[in-house]
Amino acid sequence: MRRTKVMKPEEDAYGQEIWAQYNGKESFEIVERDDGYFSTSQPELYFSEYEDWSLHEKKAMEFVKGRVLDIGCGAGRHSLYLQKKGFDVLGIDKSPLAVKVCKLRGLKKAKVMSIEDINFKSSSFDTIIMMGNNFGLFGSFKKARKLLERFYGMTSENVLIIAETLDPYKTDNPAHLEYQEFNRKRGRMSGQLRIRVRFGKYATNWFDYLIVSKEEMKEILEGTGWKAREFIDSGDSSYIAIIEKVVE
Ligand SMILES: C[S@@+](CC[C@H](N)C(=O)[O-])C[C@H]1O[C@@H](n2cnc3c(N)ncnc32)[C@H](O)[C@@H]1O
Repeated sequence: MRRTKVMKPEEDAYGQEIWAQYNGKESFEIVERDDGYFSTSQPELYFSEYEDWSLHEKKAMEFVKGRVLDIGCGAGRHSLYLQKKGFDVLGIDKSPLAVKVCKLRGLKKAKVMSIEDINFKSSSFDTIIMMGNNFGLFGSFKKARKLLERFYGMTSENVLIIAETLDPYKTDNPAHLEYQEFNRKRGRMSGQLRIRVRFGKYATNWFDYLIVSKEEMKEILEGTGWKAREFIDSGDSSYIAIIEKVVE
């Protein structure tokens, strides 16, 4: 397995905001897009308990079975919930500080690893979760297909991928609509966001974060050995896909 290149401390903006929140200090998240658009949010969501989760998130947890891989686990809210329920969970995250917080909060198995470096032996997992819009970590059409093919080999026959994303077209914000047009013109998917995350003086490197409609997700899955079994809607642009292996 390829070792994740250790991120420089000044790049660990996700980790620093999670660390600040964990220590009861002022914390916030800024997401900067490459057209200059900024949005802000509160990292307390990463520490929220099951009772406070949205209905579609709660429903998604009912599909979890067996050995679980939580990709981009953040402060570990899903991993910890599932571990408490008796599941064997491994949380992975690119951020060393996020992984430290997961361990301090009691997650038994947590590892610093980037999605690109995931490569476990065959049949290692029965569920993969990508929550908090982490379908986005697939980055692009091409990278998603490459990683899905790799995930095929390292999972059991009846595995499910539970992945949350946002439908980029469910917006009437002119800045987002313009950005989608800009993306299509430069040969990218409408929702292939080029972003970096900032907190205080910390900033991640720029990376691609992919948000997709259900139709686009089906196109990505086509021919990879995976298909969407069902979608759990939220009532807004957010939805969760339950993805299974295609049975020949
Ligand atoms: C939006 S947060 C979601 C956290 C968590 N899943 C939740 O719902 O609370 C995204 C997380 O993905 C992690 N991340 C970002 N890029 C990653 C990558 N290439 N590989 C693995 N994790 C990554 C970040 O460090 C962050 O903790």
